[in-house]
Amino acid sequence: MITLNVDLGRRSYPIFIGSGILGTSGLLTPYINGRDCLILSSETVAPIYLEPLRAMLGTSRTEVMILPDGETSKNFTCLESILDLMVEKKYSRDGIVITLGGGVIGDIGGFAAAIYQRGVDFIQVPTTLLAQVDSSVGGKTGINHPGGKNLVGAFHQPRCVLSDTDTLRTLPDRELSAGLAEVVKYGLIADADFFSWLEEQANGLLKREPAALDYAIKRSCEIKAGVVVEDETEQGIRAILNFGHTFGHAIERCMGYGEWLHGEAVAAGMCMAARFSEQLGWSSTDDSQRVRHLLTRLNLPCQPPPLNPGDFMAAMSMDKKVIGGEIRLVLMAGIGNVKVTADYPSHELLDMLSGQFIR
Ligand code: NAD
Ligand code: GLY
Repeated sequence: MITLNVDLGRRSYPIFIGSGILGTSGLLTPYINGRDCLILSSETVAPIYLEPLRAMLGTSRTEVMILPDGETSKNFTCLESILDLMVEKKYSRDGIVITLGGGVIGDIGGFAAAIYQRGVDFIQVPTTLLAQVDSSVGGKTGINHPGGKNLVGAFHQPRCVLSDTDTLRTLPDRELSAGLAEVVKYGLIADADFFSWLEEQANGLLKREPAALDYAIKRSCEIKAGVVVEDETEQGIRAILNFGHTFGHAIERCMGYGEWLHGEAVAAGMCMAARFSEQLGWSSTDDSQRVRHLLTRLNLPCQPPPLNPGDFMAAMSMDKKVIGGEIRLVLMAGIGNVKVTADYPSHELLDMLSGQFIR
């Protein structure tokens, strides 16, 4: 097992990464210690992984709530049903929420924990690649609003993250690829050598070779933790973790949540960001081609779906990086080097979008 630390002073926590660690007795004991637990999971995940998790909780009172799978569960109705259960079962401030599942479960469960009685502890047990490399780390929690992705939420750090890499064995191929999109993002924003390693290891990753997946998860978490430690509440540098996301969130919003997987939308969004960076003269054609080639090899989309450029711009304008009406984008100045900026002519953005949507 590898342990990484997210060093945030009093809110610091470990990320445990390893094969077969779900069910390892004692690992969660320091965090649970007899407290009332609420496990939140989803219809697909609970039948496979609930029992080993329960076995780690000892004699603590444990309730389980299971939500329907998928992005459409990240809504006010499901959030209300979690809070209703916590009230009905009389959880106190000492209760602890444990999220077992993908990013959807982690985001909504973490948000319920953030707001129930002004905040109770929670533990992330991510079971998708995307959740293990991204959403379980860093404390962003929340739900979608019909007007925009993740518009309602809170920063609330987990007490620990337990990533059992064996859970990835049951993950559908499409979900594995969606997680790999966020892995590629880390190479693009911070580590050109890691990006080259991903180019070499693409087949091994798709074949779920344990050594390749372990390294990809570890390196991704290291990069994410480093950025989060520098800027926990996204006052500046943390926005680079949203490379490709302003475009990607607009795809998700325009298509209807759940139609495209989040990682797929991010993949197409990163290709759009790379293309726009190239159009502005920030990065080279070779860079954009490398981004497209790698994502295509990982079975990810590089083109957005056909949409109206004006509608797309409107959806982009609901992004949380918009300040004073300006759409701030994360753009690429070469592989491994990105910058957050609103310093581009907006007609260039509309030109790029119009070019993308014409087939
Ligand atoms: P998801 O949570 O919808 O999970 C994908 C599907 O895989 C679901 O149907 C789930 O039930 C199933 N599944 C999960 N684990 C499984 C396993 N081990 N075996 C078989 N099936 C399994 O999707 P996701 O990609 O994990 O997360 C996407 C969400 O994460 C989006 O809502 C996105 O906005 C959010 N996100 C949040 C952050 C953050 O910092 N908080 C970062 C990135 C993404
Ligand atoms: N996934 C973006 C962030 O955690 O900041």
